[in-house]
Amino acid sequence: MGSLAQLNHYYLKYKHLFLPGLLAAMASAAASIVVPIVVRQAVDTIPRMVANYRAFEGTPVGDYLYARFFAVLMGFAGVILLLSFLSGVFSFVMRQTVVVASRHIEYDLRNRLYDHLQRLSHGFYLQHATGDLITRATSDIEQVRRYIGPALMYTTRAVVIIVMAMSVMFIISPVLTAYALIPMPFLGISVFFVARMVHQRSDALQEQYSELTSRVQESFSGVRVLKAYARESAEQAAFEKESAGYRERSLDLAMVDAAWRPVFLVLVGLSTIIVVWQGGRLVTEGAITLGNIAEYIIYVALMTWPVAAFGFVISMVQRAAASMTRLQRIFDAEPEVSDGVQTNEELKTVQGSVTFQGVSFRYAEDEEPVLKDLSFHVDAGTSLGIVGRTGAGKTSMIELIPRLLQASEGRVLIDGHPVEAFPLAVLRGSIGYVPQEVFLFSETIAENIAFGRMDASEELIDRAAEEADLLANVRDFPEGFKTFVGERGITLSGGQKQRTSIARALVREPSILILDDALSAVDVQTERNILGHLRRHFGRRTVVIVSHRISAVQDADQIIVLDDGVIAEQGTHDVLLAREGLYANLYRKQLLEEELAAMV
Ligand SMILES: Nc1ncnc2c1ncn2[C@@H]1O[C@H](COP(=O)(O)OP(=O)(O)O)[C@@H](O)[C@H]1O
Ligand SMILES: [Mg+2]
Repeated sequence: MGSLAQLNHYYLKYKHLFLPGLLAAMASAAASIVVPIVVRQAVDTIPRMVANYRAFEGTPVGDYLYARFFAVLMGFAGVILLLSFLSGVFSFVMRQTVVVASRHIEYDLRNRLYDHLQRLSHGFYLQHATGDLITRATSDIEQVRRYIGPALMYTTRAVVIIVMAMSVMFIISPVLTAYALIPMPFLGISVFFVARMVHQRSDALQEQYSELTSRVQESFSGVRVLKAYARESAEQAAFEKESAGYRERSLDLAMVDAAWRPVFLVLVGLSTIIVVWQGGRLVTEGAITLGNIAEYIIYVALMTWPVAAFGFVISMVQRAAASMTRLQRIFDAEPEVSDGVQTNEELKTVQGSVTFQGVSFRYAEDEEPVLKDLSFHVDAGTSLGIVGRTGAGKTSMIELIPRLLQASEGRVLIDGHPVEAFPLAVLRGSIGYVPQEVFLFSETIAENIAFGRMDASEELIDRAAEEADLLANVRDFPEGFKTFVGERGITLSGGQKQRTSIARALVREPSILILDDALSAVDVQTERNILGHLRRHFGRRTVVIVSHRISAVQDADQIIVLDDGVIAEQGTHDVLLAREGLYANLYRKQLLEEELAAMV
């Protein structure tokens, strides 16, 4: 339960809501507690008045008594109505403050979580499933909210009602009170267990629901593969299985949910029977009045919900604590990459030279390094080509530059300063990184391009699209740059997506441009066009091009051949060809492929 203690500061923050809320809870409870006292007086008074009136019926005294009887009756009715009305009003105020406060806290907590998640590094997301993170942000926060709002509200009301009702009952007759309370502990305990069963089942139901939705989502978004492999019926069968699982769990929940009401009613009924039976005995002995029995029956009814609420609240608190512990684990996660102590706020711009000094990198402590002792230097404004087999470590290597990954050993320098010295915003703001896997948002083309530079002017977007050889395509789209891409709009070809992604990097006018196999889906002619456009900036922008195609890197100022995490060869195109090594082999193979392709 300790984890919930951290929410205490929220009670302080919203004390202007919680304090009136709790006062209203007490007032509402107090008003409802007075009702039975009035009922007792009515039950004790009315028969006496009726008997008096009967004795004088037909006489002027009788008429007078009748009028008085009627007035008293109205008085009782009025008081009971007023009390119920007050209790209702206070209960309204209680909900309007406490529940509102809990919604505010939910909002704060969810935003804090999202802010925190946004700050966490790439590495965190490699370790956590998207679905789990979504559950944290939705259902775990909801559990915590229920603890903050309803649980607090029920508890306050319950304590006030139970303490006050028991005090009044005890004053009237300690013996009868003891009898009437016998079933109460059973009620509390049974509600606790039933609530736990209900909660476990609704969690299971929730989980099954996520399974079901992610299954559906996957099969809809992968519908192309699904159709191509004629997997419709298998998918249908798999869906029906998940769907049946959902039905099972719903029925399970419905069963427990239906079962606990009768238990509740039986225990309440038992209390009433005991009150009438033992109370009747006390009435004949003259210890209490008939009105007291009526009063007790109402008290017992009033108390049952609060007693049941305790059982319910305990289970709710347990769940909230478990959720809060899970949330806390995320809040405790520190971004691996952040503006650290070494950050030098003076570094406001990036010229663009890149140096690796004995850099090694491993994805996990206990794993083999995927990059081993890399050292090289790229002057600002020059270009570097990187080739190598799949899995050689090209992507890992370039992700060290914008600090998407952090070197395990050695240093990565920009303009002679360790990358850690730059404020992250400066570092990443100066680098245009086109990742190997394109990701476009369901927004317009213009918004996708301006993603890294919200203030980009139309001209700038135009120019970036032109450099990425995308402009002609965009002009053909129904609404030009305003055309939506993805689920809400047109589907771009692989090459068009890649070029949109390149335009997104170019629009930032970066000092360092990094293309990670970003031309793999465009044809050789388009590749040539794009490289030609990029060449216009040579001397002013450092360009790092990773490619599996030699043609994309052969004009680079220097080329690195990466093999199994080490630099196997390094030099210009001509030097590397003369070496007759890996590079020369790869080149010859690709020339041959091109010739073959040309023949077909
Ligand atoms: N997130 C990751 N966790 C663990 N290993 C990884 C991860 N990403 C890549 N690797 C491994 O690192 C090596 C280099 O991968 P990568 O840098 O993507 O190579 P390339 O871009 O040259 O194809 C590969 O052996 C790959 O399996
Ligand atoms: Mg790669």
